[in-house]
Amino acid sequence: MYAPRFSKLSQALHSADADVWAVSDRAHQLADKGEDVIFLCVGDPNFDTPEPILDFARARLGVGRTHYSPAAGELVLRRAIADIESKVSDHPCSPDDVVVFPGGTNAIFGVLSCLLNPGEQIVIPEPMYIGYVPITDALQLDVKKVSCPADKGFAFEIESIKQAIGEDTRAVMINTPVNPTGAMATPEQLRELAAYCRERGVWLISDEMYSMITFARRHTSLRTAAEKLDNVVVIDGLSKSHAMSGWRLGWAVAQGELVERLIEYAGATIFGCPQFIQEAAAFALEFDTYFVKQMRDAYERRRDLIVERIGKIPGLSCYSPEAGMFVMVNVSAVAQDGEAFASALLDAERVSVLPGKPFGPSAVNHVRLTLAADEADLSRALDRIERFVVGGCLKAG
Ligand SMILES: Cc1ncc(COP(=O)(O)O)c(C=O)c1O
Repeated sequence: MYAPRFSKLSQALHSADADVWAVSDRAHQLADKGEDVIFLCVGDPNFDTPEPILDFARARLGVGRTHYSPAAGELVLRRAIADIESKVSDHPCSPDDVVVFPGGTNAIFGVLSCLLNPGEQIVIPEPMYIGYVPITDALQLDVKKVSCPADKGFAFEIESIKQAIGEDTRAVMINTPVNPTGAMATPEQLRELAAYCRERGVWLISDEMYSMITFARRHTSLRTAAEKLDNVVVIDGLSKSHAMSGWRLGWAVAQGELVERLIEYAGATIFGCPQFIQEAAAFALEFDTYFVKQMRDAYERRRDLIVERIGKIPGLSCYSPEAGMFVMVNVSAVAQDGEAFASALLDAERVSVLPGKPFGPSAVNHVRLTLAADEADLSRALDRIERFVVGGCLKAG
C-alpha cells in the first residue's frame, strides 16, 4: 500500500498543539446550535474596512490593476511606507528598504526563513503572539522564551532579554505593542537592545502590527529608536490599524543585503501581491488617518469599559493596557488557571475568552478579552462574567 510521506516542515505543522483554540472551537459549536454565545476571543477588528479604501480598490480594479506586480511590492506602496517611517525617524527610509508581503504572518515567515536555519536559536519574550508558534515550529527553530512577569504588568525587561542571548542565539524577536498584553517597549529600551544585539552579532526583529493602536503615548518603532540599522528588521501591516485583516497586506523594513534576500524569498513564494490591494493600501496609509483615529478611540473606550468593570468584580484584576486590542484578566483568585476559567465560563454563561496558557507560562493564570467587540456586547459579556464569578464559579482542584 502507498504510504504518503511528508516533509519535516509539514510534520511540524501537523503535530502542532490543537488545544489553543479548544474553548473557542467549542464556543462555535454551541453558536452553531443556536446558543447565544458572546465571542471575546478573536483579534480581528469588528469594523468594516473604511469606505474610501473600498472605493479606491474598486476604482483600481476597474482600470485593470489585476496583474502581476514586482516581487518587492508596488513602488507607490513602498514609497508610502517609507514616507511614514521617514516622518517619525531620524533615519531616512527609502522605498528600497521595504518589501511587501501578503500579511504580517507571511512577512514574519519570510524574515525568519531568510535569517535562521533549522535548529538555530531565537529569543522571544513571552507572553507572545500565538501565531509565532506554527512559524517557529515549521522552521524548526530553537525558541528560547524570556518571561515578562504578570506581577510587573508584563512590562519588557530588557536585562532579561539581554541575559538570554547566548553564543547560540542568532536572532531576537520582540513584539511592540504586545499581543496579548498591550505592553510597549520604550525608545530607550529599543535603542539599548538593538545596540546590544548588534554587538553580539544577533538580528533584532520587531513585530509592530499594533503600532497604530496605542492609547496613552505614541508608538516608537525599533527603526526610529535604534542607532544603527544593519541588524534591525521591522514588520508591520494594515490588518489591525485599518481593519483590513482579510486584504492580507503586511511588510518588512530592513537594510542592505537582507532586503535583496527578502525580495528573492518573496519572488519564490508569492510572486507579487495583488496590484489593486497594494494601491488601496498606499491610499489607506496616505489618506485614512481619520478612520484609524476613530477606530483607535473606540478601542480605547472599550478598554476603559473592560478595565472599570473587571476592577469591580471581586477576585478578578487586570492592568489597563497602553495599546493593542486586548485586556489580560488575572483569574488566579477564582480559578485553578485561565484554561479552567475559560472553559467553565463558556459552560455556565456562554462567553468565549481565550486562556492565557498558549501565549506563554507568564500568562497561565490569565484569560484574554478582545476589544474587537462593540460596547453593547462587551457590557453583556461583562454582566455574565460578573454573575459567573460572584455566583461562586469555580476554584476547582
Ligand atoms: C502580534 C501579531 N503579529 C502578527 C500578526 C499577523 O498579522 P496578519 O493578520 O497581517 O498576518 C498578528 C495577528 O493577530 C499579531 O497579533
